Amino acid sequence: MRERSTEQRVMEAVRFIEEEIPYSPEVGLILGSGLGVLADAMEDVTVIHYEEIPHFPVSTVEGHAGELLVGTIGGKKTVLMKGRFHLYEGYDVASVSFPVRVMKALGVRSLLVTNAAGGINAAFEPGQLMLIRDHINFMFRNPLIGPNENALGVRFPDMSEAYSARLRTIATETAAELGLELREGVYAGLLGPSYETPAEIRMLRTIGADAVGMSTVPEVIVARHAGIEVLGISCITNMAAGMLEQHLSHAEVMDTANRVKERFLGLVAAIIPKL
Ligand code: HPA
Repeated sequence: MRERSTEQRVMEAVRFIEEEIPYSPEVGLILGSGLGVLADAMEDVTVIHYEEIPHFPVSTVEGHAGELLVGTIGGKKTVLMKGRFHLYEGYDVASVSFPVRVMKALGVRSLLVTNAAGGINAAFEPGQLMLIRDHINFMFRNPLIGPNENALGVRFPDMSEAYSARLRTIATETAAELGLELREGVYAGLLGPSYETPAEIRMLRTIGADAVGMSTVPEVIVARHAGIEVLGISCITNMAAGMLEQHLSHAEVMDTANRVKERFLGLVAAIIPKL
């Protein structure tokens, strides 16, 4: 038997999910390290464990629960990935972005992605939130490599506005209304799982990165291929390697993410209904 196409696998996952949920979500939400608490803002929730969903990869890393939640945030029908997949866990780039295909087929038109990131811009401070203006794919993997499935998107998708200007304006205005500081910058996505060296951070700064992390890029590429509008927000959990005396640790990343999560939650919850 010929291997099933991505489209067929997506439809199997969608058929399963649609049996469980009362309505089609319009907004997708993918949360980064320690920010699963944003799920608490959701009402009317249906929880589906990743391992139940056909073809869904299963999350392994600490702090990532591995559940798909469908419910409403501020009245907006939302599907939320509690726990995401990273290349450093050993997933291939197609698996990492598969859930975005599923979201699209469920009816999602806009996607909000959050992540934890190291600050490269010297004007940033740990605990600040950064609106992602653009990204640099330093993973050297692309989820669209291979035969293009025209039903899913075009062969050569435009990436000149990967992060929607319209949605960025909404985020900036919402942050201002809430009196929350929102920095803006370019996110560099690297494979990890080792943090960067100081020399790598100097290189990334030179090529125009303001923050660095180990996620987001594959999901955003697939979202754009699928014609989904994207909004990305990073939590600057630490200054990148070599910028401060102290060394980097996952504990610091989680501590900062925990410290800012209420603020992050407030911003995201206020943005979602406008997406
Ligand atoms: N580097 C890469 N990924 C990260 C960092 C970092 O400094 N902080 C949080 N995620």
